Amino acid sequence: MAKKALHRSDVTCDGIVIKDSGFQVTENTVVCLDGQVISVVGERYIMLNKPVDTICSTIDEVYPSVLSLMDIEKIDTLHIAGRLDADTTGLVLITSDGQWSHKITSPKKDCGKRYLVELADPISEDLVAVFASGIELRNEDGLTKPAILELLSPQQVRLTISEGKYHQVKRMFAAVGNKVVNLHRECVGQIELDPELVPGDWRYLTQEEVDSIS
Ligand code: URA
Repeated sequence: MAKKALHRSDVTCDGIVIKDSGFQVTENTVVCLDGQVISVVGERYIMLNKPVDTICSTIDEVYPSVLSLMDIEKIDTLHIAGRLDADTTGLVLITSDGQWSHKITSPKKDCGKRYLVELADPISEDLVAVFASGIELRNEDGLTKPAILELLSPQQVRLTISEGKYHQVKRMFAAVGNKVVNLHRECVGQIELDPELVPGDWRYLTQEEVDSIS
């Protein structure tokens, strides 16, 4: 199978098409199959569509860990870059590269996370400015960083935040007297959840997706 892929010119190492099965890779070689990074010798970068009732801890607790959905080698070298609650669905990024995940999770790096949010009560247009100027959360010093709120319908919004405080989205809406009834992450930085992935499915990121996190 590997030889067929080489023959079809589907395999690249560091962007160069490789046909020779004896080609030597190093720890840092980026190996791609059909444009997706597959190398297990180097770092790995994965997106997963998180189903409801799974958790982003590395160990199964009340619910199974999202990592248990993956049949993949050396799973113990992977970690989750930015956790979602058990009842939140959508884009989860999983990697072996700690520096890369730091760029996603550190509030200093300003990496936006976009959520589709359904609310218990209708929301007013005034909140766009309130979310943009920051919100005071219970038991938290200071204000949240500026967030982008887009109203889609009276009870459905898109919210982009660039930090990841505990239950942040739910707490932001609670602070303005509303309640999140459904939360789904669509996008992290420029990386959009692949619509081809049904809940529970995953794929390697393309090199372009990996490099888009800076
Ligand atoms: N904010 C939340 O409240 N929950 C999540 O899962 C993610 C962001």
